[in-house]
This record gives sequence, C-alpha cells and structure tokens, in this order.
Amino acid sequence: MAIERTLSIIKPDATKRNLTGKINAKFEDAGLRIVAQKRIHLSPAQAGQFYVVHKDRPFYGELVEFMASEPVVVQVLEGENAIAKNREVMGATNPAQADAGTIRKEFALSVGENSVHGSDAPETAKEEIAFFFSGLELVG
Ligand code: CMP
Repeated sequence: MAIERTLSIIKPDATKRNLTGKINAKFEDAGLRIVAQKRIHLSPAQAGQFYVVHKDRPFYGELVEFMASEPVVVQVLEGENAIAKNREVMGATNPAQADAGTIRKEFALSVGENSVHGSDAPETAKEEIAFFFSGLELVG
C-alpha cells in the first residue's frame, strides 16, 4: 500500500473546546503521523478561497464565516493509505451519520460545525497541502 499525505484541519468548534490533543490522539492511534502542523486564524477571504469549490452551495457563506471565526489547526497527516484512513477516522460529514468511535461522532456539533476537514482524493490532498504549507515545512 502506498504511503500518502493528506491535509487535515481541526476546525474552530474543536479548537475552541480545547480538543486538539484528543483529536490528534485519534489520528496517531490510527497510525497516521502528524508530519506538519500549525495553528492559524484564517481571514474570511482565505477561508473562502480554500472552500471555493463549494461557492455555489447554499451553506457557503455560513461555512466561510465559521472557518474564520476562531483559530484552526492545519496539519499534514502521513501514512499508508492516509487519505482514506483519515476519512475513516473522521467519520461521516454529518455527525448524526458517523460511526461510533469516529472524531465526528464523538466531538462534532452539527454538519457545519463538524470538528475536522480532510482531503478527499490524491489531487485535492496535493492542492490543499500546498495551500497551507511550503516544501520547507514538510520535514517528514
Ligand atoms: P468539510 O469536509 O470541511 O467540507 C465542506 C464542509 O461544508 C463540510 O465539511 C461541512 O462542514 C460543510 N457542510 C457540508 N454540508 C453542509 C450543510 N448542509 N450545512 C452547513 N455546512 C455544511
């Protein structure tokens, strides 16, 4: 199986509730390595650019406002099959549909305030990692 990297974001609802360590433990327990990580406060313009693919969705404005409301922790997770594994650990987008033991089942408040984001495919992972991190910050 290939070693992959994926972009993860611990969202404002989780940083606000001091859940960064508990969420990171879920990633590490699943065998994902946090190879880069920083806490930043996105501007609305930056949040809007990151989620531009959703710009025509009815929830876009709410999503952008939420992502810029408090600091987030952006991180690169590495491991075998990291993109799919991270999505398993996160659980379904809507916490009401997430499996037991997943981050969203345990911590998410709603479909909007769902604690974490993870890339959905190799091409988006590459783009999303480059959005937040320079090559110099990826030490492996
Ligand atoms: P994420 O994986 O970060 O990708 C896009 C985000 O949009 C998603 O998680 C949710 O937080 C948010 N989202 C998706 N559907 C809805 C919705 N119906 N209402 C509000 N936010 C949503």
